[in-house]
Amino acid sequence: MTDQPIKPLPLNILIVHGPNLNLLGTREPEVYGRLTLDEINERLTEFGDQYGVSLKIVQSNHEGVLIDALHEARGWAQGIVINPGAYTHTSIALRDAIAGIGIPTIEVHLSNTAAREEFRHRSMISPVALGTIIGLGWIGYRLAVEALIALHSEQNPR
Ligand code: DQA
Repeated sequence: MTDQPIKPLPLNILIVHGPNLNLLGTREPEVYGRLTLDEINERLTEFGDQYGVSLKIVQSNHEGVLIDALHEARGWAQGIVINPGAYTHTSIALRDAIAGIGIPTIEVHLSNTAAREEFRHRSMISPVALGTIIGLGWIGYRLAVEALIALHSEQNPR
């Protein structure tokens, strides 16, 4: 069997960056890398463009703003990629929002949280996420977008 190329499909994805990710580039670069959030977002937008996928990108340091963005995605998004930052480890509200909207959501962390402090080992989000990608830097976001495209195209054959 030959590998089928992924077909471009109308697909809208929400990318959510949580607290402190606006500081990327200067924030603990040995942990999170040297790319700024704008640079990551540009790369993701370019990647999405190659597949005809529209990305809306949101960053906030406020839990409620993140929750509102997730709720609002019900109207238009078929997939979500979220790095909830430190809310990963604390936010039942964010977890409930993801469970409540029923949109396939992939959790991403730039750093390998499993290899860091104990308090980063527990994620409130993982049980309600489709899957989780950790430790691969910005590539993790790209892989998550690619996974949503592949799953969407598998579920909508034409
Ligand atoms: C992070 C990991 C979290 O533990 C931390 O609080 C962050 C970033 C990551 O991308 O590696 O803010 O989500």
